[in-house]
This record gives sequence, C-alpha cells and structure tokens, in this order.
Amino acid sequence: MLRIDFVTIFPRMFDSFLAEGVIARGAKQELIDVRVWDLREYASDRHRSTDDEAYGGGPGMVMLAEPVLRAVEATGGGHTVMTSPQGRVFDQAKARELAARDQVVFLCGRYEGFDHRVHEALQPEELSIGDFVVSGGELPAMLMADAMGRMIEGVVGNSGSVEEDSFFNGLLDYPHYTRPVELRGMKVPDVLMSGHHENIRKWRKEQALRATLAKRPDLLETAELDPEAQKMLAKLRQECHSS
Ligand SMILES: C[S@@+](CC[C@H](N)C(=O)[O-])C[C@H]1O[C@@H](n2cnc3c(N)ncnc32)[C@H](O)[C@@H]1O
Repeated sequence: MLRIDFVTIFPRMFDSFLAEGVIARGAKQELIDVRVWDLREYASDRHRSTDDEAYGGGPGMVMLAEPVLRAVEATGGGHTVMTSPQGRVFDQAKARELAARDQVVFLCGRYEGFDHRVHEALQPEELSIGDFVVSGGELPAMLMADAMGRMIEGVVGNSGSVEEDSFFNGLLDYPHYTRPVELRGMKVPDVLMSGHHENIRKWRKEQALRATLAKRPDLLETAELDPEAQKMLAKLRQECHSS
C-alpha cells in the first residue's frame, strides 16, 4: 500500500481533498494510506512558531527547519518531496514513479519557503507544478498526489480510462462526446455511432495524433509510436503541408 504524508501548517486544507475524489477512494479501498501532519505540533516554543524572519533581512518570513525535521521523523521518513517552484516540473512519468514507492512525504512550504538547512538535512526531491509561484505547497502537493493516485491499479474505477488519458502513452487524449447526438447544430461524428469497434479504435487513435500534432507537437519527439500510428502521423503531416 502506498503511504502519502503531507507536512503542512494548514492541515484543514486537506479535509475535502481527503473526503472526496481519487485519494479518498484509494484510502477507502485500502490502496493508499494518507496522513496529514500539522507542523505546529512539532514546534519547540510555546507559541508553536513555524516561521521566523530571514537572516540578512528582506521581506517575507522563512519556515523554521527544526519543526519540519521533527515532523518528517514522525512520518517514519519515506521519499521526501519538497514542493517548490525551483524544482523539476512534475509530469506523468514522475507521477507513475512516485506511485510505485512505499512512502512519499510532501513538504508544503509557505512564505519564502524553507530554511535552506531542510535541504541539507533531508536532501528532498524538489518538484514544481510549473513556472509560476503560488502561495503555498498544499495545492501543488494535492495535485501531485491526485496524479499519483490515478496511477495505482484499482483506484480509478475503469483502468482503461486512465490508459487512454493524455500523456499515458505519450500522446494527448482523443475528443469525447456524450448525449445528445445533435447539440445546437453540432453532431457527434458518425463513426462513433456506427458500432464498428475497429473503425472507432482507428478514429480515436488518429484523433489523438491530430490533437498532439496541433497542440503539443513536442510530445511527438519522444512518443513511442507503433507502425500504424507512424503511418497515420505521416498522413496528418502531409495534410498539414498541403493545406
Ligand atoms: C510563495 S512560495 C515561495 C517561493 C520562493 N520564495 C521562490 O521564489 O522560490 C511558498 C511555497 O509555495 C510552494 N510553491 C509555490 N509555487 C510552487 C510551484 N510552482 N510548484 C510547487 N510548489 C510551489 C512551495 O512550497 C513554496 O515554498
């Protein structure tokens, strides 16, 4: 069972995340064990301080190292991930890799981030959710944990839907339609109504390639394409050149 720990000064931010959705389902099925650690419980002064002013001056508070080190010790200390805009950008491959571990401990920063000695003592893996700054590590940690949860066999009801998601096979997902057949003059493509499974499979594969070529052509440089997909892609590229 994967154990996920969140170390935070705002434990209540996790309440609805843990009550509903993928992680809640994983916990209910005993596939994921989640714990939230309130950093204030590991503070060493009577004010339960978790931050202080920066040496050298400047705006913004810095998170104290000692409570973080103590809280991580209390978790038992698995693979530690520090949420940080300075980290490598999290992606699907990283979600899969982390989901295969026994325990992942997320450190959720606030203010200017952590006293640098947290890095020295724990040597955490720094992971970012993108090249922008949010005010705390709780949302980034929840995002990453959600993506990890989806990678655990049995957590998402229909595992086929995960395998067809964007990025799972290196491509973007194909378009989806549901009722009604016609909406404000826009119709569901005939092939999807045909009941012809082989044609539907091919249409979806081509659409996934089409979406990837149009929106994220960079993914095609590393995607592993089978001969059928390579042929489809060559045709789509020709279409692009001739239009
Ligand atoms: C306001 S930010 C601190 C930013 C820090 N001073 C810097 O510029 O690198 C506070 C906390 O939010 C989290 N955070 C902010 N942006 C993030 C991102 N893009 N990815 C992951 N975590 C982020 C981190 O935990 C960070 O310690």
